[in-house]
Amino acid sequence: MYVLGIESSCDETAAAIVSDRKEVLSNVIYSQIEEHRPYNGVVPEIAARAHLEKIDIVVEKALTVANLSLDGIDAIAGTCGPGLIGGVIVGATFAKSLAFAKKVPFVAINHIEAHALSVRLTEEIEFPYLLILASGGHCQICVVHDIDRFQILGRTLDDSIGESFDKVSKLLGFGYPGGPIIEKLYQEGDSSRFLLPKPMCSRGNCDFSFSGLKTAVLNASQKCNSLRDRKDLAASFQKTVSEIMSFKMRQALDFCCDQKIKINAAVISGGVAANLMIRENLKKVCGSVPFLVPPTKFCTDNGAMIAWLGIEKFKRNQMNSLDFHPRPRWPLGE
Ligand code: KG4
Ligand code: ZN
Repeated sequence: MYVLGIESSCDETAAAIVSDRKEVLSNVIYSQIEEHRPYNGVVPEIAARAHLEKIDIVVEKALTVANLSLDGIDAIAGTCGPGLIGGVIVGATFAKSLAFAKKVPFVAINHIEAHALSVRLTEEIEFPYLLILASGGHCQICVVHDIDRFQILGRTLDDSIGESFDKVSKLLGFGYPGGPIIEKLYQEGDSSRFLLPKPMCSRGNCDFSFSGLKTAVLNASQKCNSLRDRKDLAASFQKTVSEIMSFKMRQALDFCCDQKIKINAAVISGGVAANLMIRENLKKVCGSVPFLVPPTKFCTDNGAMIAWLGIEKFKRNQMNSLDFHPRPRWPLGE
């Protein structure tokens, strides 16, 4: 079967066609980075308008690249939340309209669950697995027991990890989007120059906090006089965040061991999983536990992960009616 997945919850308009044999026939992404760059962050109204302008073009291209017409699509999966509601409404309404017109099933997708399950598109991995979900809007650690069963071990008490990358980049004057910019600056700066705090790392739990770290960067930045200083501070931030992630992964692995939860692998997914330093350090912490990450193109927002969760849900007969309402907030597994 072929499923069309449509994504529009933040600043990427995306559509992909994926088969139940895990073939990604197309994966088209229109990034709105240039529209938002002048504002150093995502402007919800601009995002919603840009989704509206591009969604039909992106879906059409996904069909062309896959060499299929809408008649060849067996189900349509659309992100229905959580996210910026204006954009979510655009994608969800487009997906539902196509499903109605072509009389095929519609699957309402939780964007965060799609990130959580994305690793199963490219890896043969059985449940349960340990997951760090690290994106622009979320940061949590859970055990994924099934496509709709998530045991939350910890979450951020304030900012998400991607948000902290974005805010730090902005306050250091390096612009948007922060994650890839700071990752690059790490190569150029001296990461040992600034000693930054690691909030919640004296506690043996799996919760995170990033706002104190961001404030520490802000305070340190006031003593920065040169580009060199700011690059060193960005590099020190990258190193500190990576150490926090490794510490929390260790806590989560220990928890699973203590509770006799036999995880098959440890995974990081979501936009921040594109960060090579974080990946490499997490791999070291995992030791003999297999460590898996989706390919970078499936870490940041994309339609393939939406289509894939659509397939997982379709196989379990978890389709939705066309009056499913988009949800700005939608916790995992609800
Ligand atoms: O999953 P995603 O594409 O969108 C959300 O669901 O939020 O994640 C976007 C976040 C942004 O905060 C971005 O700065 C961060 O992921 N990000 C990165 C990297 N690439 C994207 N963070 C660190 N290193 C990267 N290479
Ligand atoms: Zn995302």
